[in-house]
Amino acid sequence: MTTLSAPDLMPGVEPSPLALLLLGRQRDLGSERGVDCPGELPAAADPSLVERARAAKAALGDRVFVLGHHYQRDEVIAFADVTGDSFRLAQQAAARPEAEFLVFCGVHFMAESADILTSAHQAVLLPDLAAGCSMADMASFEQVERCWEDLVAAGVAGQTVPVTYMNSSAAIKGFTGRRGGTICTSSNAAAALRWALEQGSKVLFLPDQHLGRNTAVRELGLTLEDCVVYDPHKSGGGLTVEQLQRATVILWKGHCSVHGRFTLESVREVRERVPGVQVLAHPECRHEVVQAADLVGSTDFIIRTLDAAPAGSSWAIGTELNLVRRLAGAHPDKTVVFLDKTVCFCSTMNRIDLPHLVWTLESLVAGRVPNRITVEPGTAGYARAALDQMLALPAR
Ligand code: 13P
Ligand code: SF4
Repeated sequence: MTTLSAPDLMPGVEPSPLALLLLGRQRDLGSERGVDCPGELPAAADPSLVERARAAKAALGDRVFVLGHHYQRDEVIAFADVTGDSFRLAQQAAARPEAEFLVFCGVHFMAESADILTSAHQAVLLPDLAAGCSMADMASFEQVERCWEDLVAAGVAGQTVPVTYMNSSAAIKGFTGRRGGTICTSSNAAAALRWALEQGSKVLFLPDQHLGRNTAVRELGLTLEDCVVYDPHKSGGGLTVEQLQRATVILWKGHCSVHGRFTLESVREVRERVPGVQVLAHPECRHEVVQAADLVGSTDFIIRTLDAAPAGSSWAIGTELNLVRRLAGAHPDKTVVFLDKTVCFCSTMNRIDLPHLVWTLESLVAGRVPNRITVEPGTAGYARAALDQMLALPAR
């Protein structure tokens, strides 16, 4: 890939930091997005990329372990030693003490979690540092600390347990561990909420309001009135003290821009277009979408449901497109369509491609350790407590 230097972008014009961030060329460690990716990448059109990846992986042998999230491109999944949702990948990273290098084909927060769960002698690498998550960026450490101060001021902090979605920075996972909470993923959010409500009488769920609301209402039997939304951009979260005191679940105002695209109209449209279709949606979708769906569950649940579905059945899947396309290919005896008419990849998951993977593996072969993800030990200690609590939750 040709790397454009700043003047190449527009001669005579000083690029704004925002333009550089959008191009993934500037270092911004406070964000999940737009960090620099150093080095010379192989050209995307290089016909020897598959062979190069194979050769580099063979040369590294057991020293390297490649993890691939379900939303990764096919060309990357082909080289993964394990594929899974964020929960399974966290478990798998923790279970590989012998691997010197863990190449994480996923997004930044997943690689951070892998670093927290592995030993100091192991290096976790993210092939493209610009693979972040816009949802994780919706909750900064400072905002979450301010929110906690609001809970203290309302007299409810003592009874509130934080439940933090895996899709969050290590700093927020550290906050969660420090406050006696747990991490969850979309596959164990119900177990996490139940556990939290046994420890206290309220939950602060962050950063995905939809996963929190959908789990509280659909799986724990709470009502929409039991939930309030805390907006970090408003004073006091935009909530009164009475609202905070009455609520059982305080939802952070964050969402996934990919799953947020599915609407009630998408569900209506696909039901008309595909007779007899069953709608299967990820719980990051809006509440009205999951209410209108036939089944709701994590990426892992979606895969298991399709595996168990009878030949001839029809499915509209509300999750990321790489996974939906692979499911369609794996089940030629079933009709599998994307829930929305418009194409919707997760652009940051898609940052990891074969050139970045080849570059990472070949750098390791040459004795360089590129794009290492490390979490500072103070934060990692508390974040590990919250992650260990998640791994100890009752099985799904
Ligand atoms: P999973 O928890 O199912 O892996 O999903 C992660 C994610 O980023 C969904 O958008
Ligand atoms: Fe983040 Fe959404 Fe992409 Fe998942 S699909 S990594 S939540 S932006």
